[in-house]
Amino acid sequence: MDSIIEVNKKVGVNMLEIGQIIEVNIMDINYEGKGVAKVDDFVVFVEGTITGDFVKIKISQKKKNYAIGKLLKIIKKSNDRVDPSCKYSTQCGGCKLMHMDYKEQLIYKKNRVINELKRTSVNIDETIINDTIGMEEPFRYRNKTAFSVTKKNDEIVIGPYEEKTYNTVDISSCMLQNKQADEIIKFFKSAMKKYNIEPYDKKTSKGIIRNLVIRSNKQNEIMLIIVTNTEYFPNKDTILKELTSKIKEIKTVVQNINNKNTNLIMGNKNITLFGEGIINDTIDNLIFTISPDTFFQINSQQTQRLYKIALDYAELKPDDICFDLYCGIGTISLMAAKHAKKVYGVEIVEQSIINAIENARFNHIENTEFFAGKTEKILPMLYNKNIVPDVIILDPPRKGCEKEVIDTIIKMSPNKVVYVSCNPSTLARDVKLLENANYKLEKIQTVDQFPWSTHVESIILMTNCGSEEK
Ligand SMILES: C[S@@+](CC[C@H](N)C(=O)[O-])C[C@H]1O[C@@H](n2cnc3c(N)ncnc32)[C@H](O)[C@@H]1O
Repeated sequence: MDSIIEVNKKVGVNMLEIGQIIEVNIMDINYEGKGVAKVDDFVVFVEGTITGDFVKIKISQKKKNYAIGKLLKIIKKSNDRVDPSCKYSTQCGGCKLMHMDYKEQLIYKKNRVINELKRTSVNIDETIINDTIGMEEPFRYRNKTAFSVTKKNDEIVIGPYEEKTYNTVDISSCMLQNKQADEIIKFFKSAMKKYNIEPYDKKTSKGIIRNLVIRSNKQNEIMLIIVTNTEYFPNKDTILKELTSKIKEIKTVVQNINNKNTNLIMGNKNITLFGEGIINDTIDNLIFTISPDTFFQINSQQTQRLYKIALDYAELKPDDICFDLYCGIGTISLMAAKHAKKVYGVEIVEQSIINAIENARFNHIENTEFFAGKTEKILPMLYNKNIVPDVIILDPPRKGCEKEVIDTIIKMSPNKVVYVSCNPSTLARDVKLLENANYKLEKIQTVDQFPWSTHVESIILMTNCGSEEK
């Protein structure tokens, strides 16, 4: 067999053309989970491959700086390659790493964070980054999923979207969801057929059922959200009766109306059809109320670990003022409140703040205050009122923090910043800004919240080197 160097020499970048068939060694995996090969230093990305594979590919696209190769044959398998546990893994965009040994995924995720920090020129001593905390049993871990409902060849199709398209993959089971999700899919396929209920059709904006959103808690109680195009839902009562008597774990069913021609799953109106319209979950002996449209970390087991590390890093003292920015329903805030003098939570979704306030009351926690609004607006407002924290914990969405947030954090000059992030690249960008303002990167921990996907959650601790501890 040719070595990569020999293969590359034979081909040569100038000769690399669309349609060309070549053999390459996969040397790395990129952030999207695509294998990376090089042909005379010219990068070729190959979907479905991992480091150590030797493969035959066909060049399908050629851009200025890279090419895309379509996998034709695995000539020699990487030692880290495993048989995917899910038969839909190549169609569904959810589990890009199903063909990679789980332990190797954990290494890949740690390296992703190191590489992003280095790429952004963050001063990083690699010994401060711990190995990724993985799951003992990395299946059926998701407590929330959204399936799309459509029709193909006159049959009801329910499942996740294919990667980068809005085509639904017809599944009967998902290895990331609890078993009841499989039963719910089966039930709706048959009930929609029996009662002649049409799925929503994007092209015509007609039809009724758009999506099924399934949320569950640690006790395996289920909230089912049926997203419909119209408030009219034929045979609703009969269907509900059949559904809830068949799947006893369903504690509440909510109809969400979304009549807009949009890719957003949920609309603004919720009608509770069964139960209380909420479910509760517990973290660290605290009880949290979850509404249909509020954020809750999707992997409950790992979330407990994630929050514990965030709080260990924060090392809150009884006199400390702590900010929990992007606080959702106040999960971190309430845990932090047990150790601090006062915690201020900030969150954009009003319903989450309503839940956070209720959660505090329900758990008899009196030293929290919550603000509904954009962090980039609320944080400067708090600063202007001279409310400044000793410790800031922040957990922004994938796009990271707005510049105003980082600027205000720097002005507030807390002793510690604990940053929880689901996107290594925006994390690195924000860390660099804090580093430029005299914050030192002290600790990094990656946690696998999303096994088999390329996503990684990180927690970092930065300490303020510019001021004496307050
Ligand atoms: C990754 S979640 C973290 C939530 C919470 N810390 C948790 O662990 O459950 C990010 C949260 O930020 C909220 N969010 C998004 N943009 C925001 C903004 N500009 N200001 C405040 N909150 C925002 C989202 O609604 C979401 O609840």
